[in-house]
Amino acid sequence: MKDKFYITTPLYYVNASAHIGHSYTNIAADSIARFMRSVKGQENVWFLTGTDEHGQKIERSAREAGLEPKEFTDKVVMTFKELWKILNISNNDFIRTTEPRHITTVRNVLNILYKKNDIYKQNYEGWYCTPCETFWSDSQIEDNLCPDCKRKLERISENNYFFRMSGYQDWLVEYIERDPLFIRPEIRRNEILSFLKLNKLSDLCISRPKERLNWGIELPFSKDHVTYVWFDALINYISAVGFFDDKGRYVSKWWPADLQLIGKDILRHHCVYWPIMLKALNLQMPKTIFAHGWWMINKDKMSKSKGNVVSPVDMVNKFGVDSYRYFLLRDVPFGMDGNFSIDSLIKRINSDLANDLGNLLHRTVTMVEKYFSGKMPTKEVTFDENTMFIKEKGESFKGSINKIISCESDYNFSFALESIWELINIANKHVEQTKPWNLLKEEKITELENFILIMKYCIDHVVEALVPFMPETCAEIIKQISADVITKEKPLFPRLEIK
Ligand code: ME8
Repeated sequence: MKDKFYITTPLYYVNASAHIGHSYTNIAADSIARFMRSVKGQENVWFLTGTDEHGQKIERSAREAGLEPKEFTDKVVMTFKELWKILNISNNDFIRTTEPRHITTVRNVLNILYKKNDIYKQNYEGWYCTPCETFWSDSQIEDNLCPDCKRKLERISENNYFFRMSGYQDWLVEYIERDPLFIRPEIRRNEILSFLKLNKLSDLCISRPKERLNWGIELPFSKDHVTYVWFDALINYISAVGFFDDKGRYVSKWWPADLQLIGKDILRHHCVYWPIMLKALNLQMPKTIFAHGWWMINKDKMSKSKGNVVSPVDMVNKFGVDSYRYFLLRDVPFGMDGNFSIDSLIKRINSDLANDLGNLLHRTVTMVEKYFSGKMPTKEVTFDENTMFIKEKGESFKGSINKIISCESDYNFSFALESIWELINIANKHVEQTKPWNLLKEEKITELENFILIMKYCIDHVVEALVPFMPETCAEIIKQISADVITKEKPLFPRLEIK
């Protein structure tokens, strides 16, 4: 399909409810999807999110809750779906790894790779980290602790199936080096390249014996094993948008993905395992895998296991959905880590939203009500030499945001919003410079009308650019500014006290 845009998020584990970190990826993906729909047309964008439901972690959480895994995941999935509604996430599809369409595709993939001899059986003896569901060799560990999460490892010996990743290492290095847009931002691309250059890839163990774990997709060639949760989950990106036909050919309108958004915690799974799986299947690579940074709380990563999570629902209830969306996208350049605090959220709301954007709308509708009995003048706006720069700013706007919200610019939301705020500030300054109250006193009605039309021009352009990031606010602004009889309403963003 020409000029399509397929964007994905990670599939979140359903062992607990979503926190700010999860909501961040989906808000960023949503903003890009909405932006791309405005550029490429509504029908040409496909936005996928979903849930990762198999594996030991989930099975354990289900048991702890006294439920069967499927019952448990059904319940938690509802909370994810509910959250995406609250946050105005405009995903086109939501895939669960427990759905038949996914299970069928995973089994097809396993069969294809098994027949190609890219999957083989072998006894494995070594160390295993249950929370990370990862194997480690003696040389990789110290003090029997997991190198990633620092928890205690278990010693195991069992028959398993392995995916021949090692054979694809040279190909992968070359592929990443050839395409600078494949892994973004640059710092993550370098991280993966140096990992691949310093380490020899081992083959990936892609099975778990059923005696240890039952909650997974059964291997089509062994009744005694289920599929490793990561091997299962990554396949969602193709199982959601296509299928393998009788001849084993993958048929899809959307694949390859144009942008796969992830957090930097799952970089290696997405930039090593996943490309190699695709290569082995003879499928195209995603155009870009982008790994953003972490939201931290007092210098610690926010995570379920650390118990320092903040609930997005609480934030939305207290501060409103668009204030929350705005803060996450504006406060930290995309790709970097950020520290989450209520104080900085309130500061942003007071300065950027209440003082700048809210004020712009509020004073404009107030003046239309007061000077023109609520009727927006219907003339064409005109610009003279003193205001021409406003027109030019408005016109150049779209192009500059197009450039910023692109792979080449690493989807720099913060910068895009900053540039939208330039126009908001220009418009607010225009009020102080023109002093419309004097125009009224001097009965310069034509000038007063044109002044209001310039304000409207700025608001229209701001809304057009801002809508992917703050959809609800923009709908409200449009409603107020284009009413038949415009009246002053409650401020969009009341100022808040810092406690
Ligand atoms: O890893 N800051 O699921 P998961 C920013 N199921 N983003 C964060 C974050 C934080 N503190 N914490 C989590 C999994 N995230 C697998 C993925 S994909 C086929 C399988 C976000 O529930 C970020 O996107 O642990 C991160 O990559 C993801 O949640 C991990 O979610």
